[in-house]
Amino acid sequence: MSFETRYELYRAYFERELGNACAAMEIVPDVLRESMQYSLLAGGKRIRPILFLSCLELLGCNYQEELPLAVAIESIHTYSLIHDDLPAIDNDDLRRGRPSNHVVYGEANAILAGDGLLSYAMELLLLEAGRDMGHLKAAQALAHAAGVYGMVAGQSADLLFENKEGSEADLLFIHTNKTGRMIAAPLIMASRIAGKQEQALSAFGETLGLLFQLTDDLLDGTAKLGKTPGKDSEEGKFTALKIYGEKRANDLCGSYQQSCHRLLDTVEGDTQFLHGMVDLVARRDH
Ligand code: IPE
Ligand code: IPE
Ligand code: MG
Ligand code: MG
Ligand code: MG
Repeated sequence: MSFETRYELYRAYFERELGNACAAMEIVPDVLRESMQYSLLAGGKRIRPILFLSCLELLGCNYQEELPLAVAIESIHTYSLIHDDLPAIDNDDLRRGRPSNHVVYGEANAILAGDGLLSYAMELLLLEAGRDMGHLKAAQALAHAAGVYGMVAGQSADLLFENKEGSEADLLFIHTNKTGRMIAAPLIMASRIAGKQEQALSAFGETLGLLFQLTDDLLDGTAKLGKTPGKDSEEGKFTALKIYGEKRANDLCGSYQQSCHRLLDTVEGDTQFLHGMVDLVARRDH
């Protein structure tokens, strides 16, 4: 099976599960449900759930049984995007090629849609956590990555460095936390469910996360991302482009890509698809 076919297969299973989850949401008031689903169903790349499902398969688990956790991962990611776009944070009116959540539903509803998605995800995690110790530890990994030791800390640091000069170490902190943790989390979760290879997969995930944010910074000027082009420089963001310039940032991208492949070589099992994910992230145009 080609890389693309496999990606689309995981994506199809995920979209079906997400569609069913949305159909089952009996959320009142309507505006809360609609705003949550507006962003959930806006058609992202689904990189994090696909990393999770493919890693489970690599580790010999039945990924069909873990689809609710894939929905939890994407729900937290989607909440982070809604809040990231808010006027008080990145002030971006465009997301996934459509008006941002707050543009459609207003700022207050967008904040609540994010809160709703985060707590919805926690409920999904807790429902699965009772299955066995591996699932409990997987749930903890996602909560850890999403919160004050991960994404939220990264977002906080990202704001601190707006319109300021930072060091390479500062940039590494921001990228590791705001993005890297939520890219590594699906891999750590899969390894905890399978009960093996956490160290190797976590090291790989961390570097893949850095590669992911580096390409995000590099692509900021382009229209294909479905976000406002040039928003980082407009908002005075402290990015890889700002500190390294385009040439060095591109070189760094190549060296992270190589490191990812090398780290994957330490993982046991059929890593072909994950090698493909590395190249997809490195070469992506959106
Ligand atoms: C965007 O994530 C936010 C970052 C962490 C850079 P994605 O590029 O995965 O966004 P979607 O989910 O495909 O829209
Ligand atoms: C955001 O990083 C990471 C998140 C936690 C959402 P960015 O602010 O660079 O993400 P984009 O470019 O808006 O997607
Ligand atoms: Mg941001
Ligand atoms: Mg942003
Ligand atoms: Mg960005």
